[in-house]
Amino acid sequence: MRPDSLAQTDRKQVKVAISAPGPWWRDAVIYQVYPRSFADGDGDGIGDIDGIRSHLSHLADLGVDAIWMSPWYPSPMADAGYDVADFRDIDPAFGTLSEAEALISEAHAAGIRMIVDIVPNHLSSEHVWFKKALADPAAPERELFWFRPGRGEHGDEMPTDWVGEFGGTTWTRTTDPDGTPGDWYLHLFTPEQPDLNWEHPTVRAEFEDILRFWFDRGVDGIRIDSAALLFKDRTLPAVVEGRPHPFHDLDEVHDVYRAWRRVSDSYPDRALIGEVWMPEVERFANYLRPDELHAAFNFDFLGCAWDPELMRACIDRTLDAHRAVGAPATWVLSNHDVTRHVTRYGRTTTTFSFENNLDGTPVDLELGTRRARAAALLSLSLPGATYVYQGEELGLWENENIPVDRLQDPMYARRGHSRDGCRVPLPWSGDEPPFGFSTAEPWLPQPAEWKDRTVQAQTGDPSSMLELYRSAIALRRAEGGLHEPHMTWLPGAPGVLAYARGAAFACVLNMSPAAVPLPAHRSVLLTSSPLDGGDLPPDTAAWLRLAT
Ligand code: GLC
Repeated sequence: MRPDSLAQTDRKQVKVAISAPGPWWRDAVIYQVYPRSFADGDGDGIGDIDGIRSHLSHLADLGVDAIWMSPWYPSPMADAGYDVADFRDIDPAFGTLSEAEALISEAHAAGIRMIVDIVPNHLSSEHVWFKKALADPAAPERELFWFRPGRGEHGDEMPTDWVGEFGGTTWTRTTDPDGTPGDWYLHLFTPEQPDLNWEHPTVRAEFEDILRFWFDRGVDGIRIDSAALLFKDRTLPAVVEGRPHPFHDLDEVHDVYRAWRRVSDSYPDRALIGEVWMPEVERFANYLRPDELHAAFNFDFLGCAWDPELMRACIDRTLDAHRAVGAPATWVLSNHDVTRHVTRYGRTTTTFSFENNLDGTPVDLELGTRRARAAALLSLSLPGATYVYQGEELGLWENENIPVDRLQDPMYARRGHSRDGCRVPLPWSGDEPPFGFSTAEPWLPQPAEWKDRTVQAQTGDPSSMLELYRSAIALRRAEGGLHEPHMTWLPGAPGVLAYARGAAFACVLNMSPAAVPLPAHRSVLLTSSPLDGGDLPPDTAAWLRLAT
């Protein structure tokens, strides 16, 4: 299925020869590295910067434009590093700041940009600000968080009944230095992640300085965690259907991102990318106005069912919303928070939401893999930037068989669903765990069946997921049509999505239960599964060169 003209060495030449017009972040392929699980360089079972540096060639061969690095800062790891104790250093489990700097320059030398993850909604309870705030109720650091007296005669009821983002309660009571019960503090996630008070100028100044710290080290972009949660209604109202939410998407947040945009604009070619979970597309698009963020993750697409009408409607909705503000769309199939899409697409219910826990329901991995292959050609040929979560290029599925006593995700205790199943260390080589990931037992167990999904096993196998991704990303770079800013729907049989990019390129995705003829074309560039006597089988996508 991989055209001979795209042999491995040629792909590198293509990469140098073709550069897309316009800023890189508008149509980049961005690969998410989850550092704990990418590769372990020091043999402790936990991935680290050394491991990433020694496997950079995998990303160069894949042809990605940028790496988004999930948090690597010092952290007690109450939420796998999303509880940051110091944004200006690296956790010893991952390495050192100078190793991080070396990685940034090595990635740049390989033509790969670097995006770091900043978590502005909360800090770790081990951050020096919070430690000072807890130690002394009169400390000025107290104002940097949300400390409030409790309700009820003795103050022993939480200030609100807000439910946390992982489920569970959102306030924890403190103990004053004299040993008596004190105020409560707010945490939308775990108690180890106290929320910051974004009304305070010190908080704003601190994060602008953190952005500069990383931009000064050559980082090309910032992924903004929980970007819509920063402000809270300080009257602490109850969450009531039909009224503005007390902590989702308050208007004040936009002022922060305007200030961040001024910081990023003071450096060349930097990008701000928001994690904005928002059902209302108009509210979502507000974050992408020309003086705010450059891009935001498309969770609408990620959660969309494997269904032709719903998928088409999602694509239209996405493109319309982005067009209105002049921002590029993003296409995301998986990340470190959601069930891997090989598993999702192999279920009867193919949508994803945290509320609807499908863990343990039957999965047809063959069907899921077939659809994931087609989805790769879809997400890599729609106009905008495409995100690849580490391991999706290997066709990894969710590990739903992790023993409960090995689970680490704090969401599990609150929601009964763990995100650990998508965070399992990558299989690189060999026939059995740890598959070249480490010399020690990996921090989460890898399925033995991954022996066919290692980088080594898939390299050079034209029918593998890895070679499909390599070919697709190389073609994406080389095909002029895939640099056109728009797409046009083409007529298609029921259940078939077909669209053109420019005059010479089309993608056709058959989501119907029967094989369909391909539209008129000059040649077939790539297919996600073999054609059936020239027809496109179910759950298969094809990239076509059109006659012009
Ligand atoms: C984001 C992260 C997630 C984390 C949460 C709290 O949703 O992607 O992993 O648990 O924020 O920081």
